Amino acid sequence: MATPPGASAILDTAAPAAPGEAATPGAELCVVVPTFNESGNVAVLVERLAEVLAGIAWEIVFVDDDSPDGTAERVRALARRDRRVRCIRRVGRRGLSSASIEGILSTSAPFIAVMDGDLQHDEALLPQMLGRLRDGAAELAVASRYIESGDAGGLANRRRHRLSRAGAGLARLLIKTDISDPGSGFFMLSREVANRVAPHLSGVGTKILIDIMASSPHPLSVIELPYRFRPRHSGESKLDTFTVLEYLLLLAEKISGRYFSHKLLLFGLVGASGVVVNLAVLRLLLAFGARFTAAVVAATVTAMVSNFFLNNILTYRDSRLVGWRAVRGLVTFMALCGVGALVNVAVARDLYAATRLWLVAGIGGAVVAALLNYGLTSMFTWGRRF
Ligand code: GDD
Ligand code: MN
Repeated sequence: MATPPGASAILDTAAPAAPGEAATPGAELCVVVPTFNESGNVAVLVERLAEVLAGIAWEIVFVDDDSPDGTAERVRALARRDRRVRCIRRVGRRGLSSASIEGILSTSAPFIAVMDGDLQHDEALLPQMLGRLRDGAAELAVASRYIESGDAGGLANRRRHRLSRAGAGLARLLIKTDISDPGSGFFMLSREVANRVAPHLSGVGTKILIDIMASSPHPLSVIELPYRFRPRHSGESKLDTFTVLEYLLLLAEKISGRYFSHKLLLFGLVGASGVVVNLAVLRLLLAFGARFTAAVVAATVTAMVSNFFLNNILTYRDSRLVGWRAVRGLVTFMALCGVGALVNVAVARDLYAATRLWLVAGIGGAVVAALLNYGLTSMFTWGRRF
């Protein structure tokens, strides 16, 4: 585009410097912080980073899952005053690992740290981690609660301590590197490593470090630095019972390589639970003297509703439907299951005609219908793209 005559005059006088001077180089270190309801913590974290990272070109990326407490708005207010602060707001999504991955992929900095937004991680470790990665001592620097002077004092109770240690034991089997705290959510890696592992990450659950280590084609060289896991600054922990289930699913997905999808497995388990619900309701209604056809219809509908809600809570925990979207989801789910049922009948009938084996025909029809249901509902009920 041609420059208007007046503009070049302004440029000539107001910005006499060499071309290119206006560009400020990007950050050397990006700190990625997944957040959910951390509005009381983000400003303090930025302030502390500014102190400990003095002299380093850094930026911070908060990846917020649309927290109802307005975390994203707080971050944007900070960002208006300080260009080192950035915010990614994800809508209709949940998940610590997947949020961290999105933050990691959003930056061009050569070094990337991941840390919590609740001030439990000791930011004073960041310059040391950066130093070790810069001089090539390792590909990955992990802040550990379990070595030397490290301390897991901030874990809420004894059950959390035991779980944390047991989880670490399991993970060591998988990642083939002897690291004391694979469950740590505080670590730093090079952009190179991040690029290499990105296509293989599962993003399920909260154990992003295990995901990264298990996704690397060769064992990563790691250095661990001890720190004291502090009690939470404000707000509360988001991790719950499902966190353990998600952790086991992550391990299963990693162990089986590319051939296992945790979502398909959960969908199958929920489907199996639906068979039990169906039969139980049928038995109960018949016991109360219901007519058979009416009882079968009621049992089938109950099983569909139960399947929908279980899938919504478990299988699609990261993109759960709520409010009216859940109602609409239930309707599409039931309609698509109806399509699945028709296909089930058609496949079973053809298989039976071909083989005369009722069990083969029955299982064949059910498996094809289940896969079809999985594909259709994941796209049209939970809006996922492949
Ligand atoms: N974007 C996003 N989405 N962030 C989340 C979500 C989510 O669904 N759930 C939690 N977070 C954020 C929190 O806001 C916090 O910044 C960080 O992830 C850790 O979550 P906490 O809820 O504070 O977890 P914790 O203290 O119980 O768990 C800590 O210990 C684990 C090991 O035992 C964390 O350090 C984990 O990273 C660590 O794996
Ligand atoms: Mn925490």
